[in-house]
Formats: sequence, structure tokens, C-alpha cells
Amino acid sequence: MPAAQGERRGPAVRFHIAADAAATAEMAADSVEGVIRSNPRASIGLATGATMEGVYRSLVRRCQEGSLSFAEATVYLLDEYIGLDADHPQAYRNVITRSFTELVDLRDDAVFAPDCRAPDLDTEARRYDRLVRAAGIDIQLLGIGRNGHIAFNEPGTPFDAKTNVVSLSKATRRDNARFFDSAEEVPLQAITQGTGTILQAKQILLVAQGSHKSRPIRDALEGPVTSEVPASALQLHGDASAVLDLEAASRLSTDQPQV
Ligand code: F6R
Repeated sequence: MPAAQGERRGPAVRFHIAADAAATAEMAADSVEGVIRSNPRASIGLATGATMEGVYRSLVRRCQEGSLSFAEATVYLLDEYIGLDADHPQAYRNVITRSFTELVDLRDDAVFAPDCRAPDLDTEARRYDRLVRAAGIDIQLLGIGRNGHIAFNEPGTPFDAKTNVVSLSKATRRDNARFFDSAEEVPLQAITQGTGTILQAKQILLVAQGSHKSRPIRDALEGPVTSEVPASALQLHGDASAVLDLEAASRLSTDQPQV
């Protein structure tokens, strides 16, 4: 039975512990590969951020070696900053293009993201929400913020949120400043898939590496289901799992075999 919000429960999210970040990336890439093999026309939900870099490197390698093809797949970004120029290197569309989509055999028209230069951003958010739901995401890759966010759903966001315009928390802007020349340059807002949109994905795979993720991982996987920890919403999903390195898993109480 699904847990009600606020109810304390054990980990419903399966997790696998790998020795290091590189091994988590390989495991996540294995999951994406498995989905593509069973359905070459799969819709894949992509996250941005440091966690995903190794995952995309592994998928690119597999594609370039000829063992995996994205030729019939489509991909959907989770979120995009508002206020960056179209060619800004940190616009998520550009990050994903550089690190993944232009390096594999995806069709150019198979990559979707919110258009944050649309004249009406609320209308654009609704359009993107409909697009993602209609696509039916087969596997959604997720990172987790230090504050427990998924995509840019910050603590306090309702679990049924649709894709919408959000303000980034101070903590998230501070964390993301490492990708920009200065902290002031980090955008104040973004369009993000809502938690409710993300939960529509058939399968969700959360990836976390490093000791700075150990607290949000414990709260998300073993803590109460609460909108104060957006990633705890994964406990409500029937097919959510996590791949963690030893450091990210270090505060979990449950023993699961290491891979
Ligand atoms: C990015 C995103 C964010 C990141 C999270 C972790 O599209 O949605 O939620 O996944 O902030 O970021 P890293 O991997 O840089 O620690």
C-alpha cells in the first residue's frame, strides 16, 4: 500500500551500493541500456549536474563502440534555467548537448527541454508538462540536491506539482555556483518538471555519489515521506531505485549487499 505523506516507513526504494562514483555511473548506464534494449523507441528522462557526467560518458562510450544505439529513442530534460542566453555554456540544453546528445546517434529532433526564452513561461511550463506526460518516460534519471531536491523541486514543494516556474533556493544557488564564473551569475529561477510529473515515469533511477549526499539520501530513502524532503516522494513510486557509492550510502541503516 502506498505510504501517506508524513507516515514513517522503511525503505521502499531499492538501492544498490557500488564501490565508487565510476561504478555507480556504470550501473546507471546499465539500467538505461536495459530499457533501450527492451524498447529502442524508449523515452528517457535526463538530469543535469556533476552526478550524471559519468553516466553520460559511459552511455556515449557504449554508443561509440557500437554496442548501444539511441537512434530511435527520445530524451526529455528535467529542467532549465531562466535568464541565460541561448548559447550560455551552463544552459542545461547546452550542457546535455555537449556531454551526451551530440555525441550519440540521437536524432536532432528527439531532444526536448523547456524553452525558457518563450514569451510566456507559465504557458511554456504547461506545454512541457503535457509533452512529458504524453511521452510516458520509460526511465527517469535523477540526481539529488544537498537539500533533498529532485530536479528543481525545492523543500516544501507539493508532491503533485506539475512542471512550473520556480525560484531556486539559496542553498541550490550556492551549490550550483561552482558551474558559473561567480555566485551572482547563477539564475534565480528555472522551469522544472514538478514532482508529480516526475512520479509519472515508469521507472525512476536516483544516482548519488559522495559524503555530501549521505544525509539527503538517508532522509529520502529511510526518513518520513514529506515534502520537506522532495526526494522522499520516491517512496511513493512503485519502481524507484537508487545507485549509491559507499560515501552516499554511509548513513543508511539498512544492510544491503554491496555490488
Ligand atoms: C539537474 C537537477 C538537479 C541535480 C541535483 C544534483 O537537472 O535536476 O536536481 O540533479 O542538484 O546535482 P549534482 O549532480 O551536480 O550534485
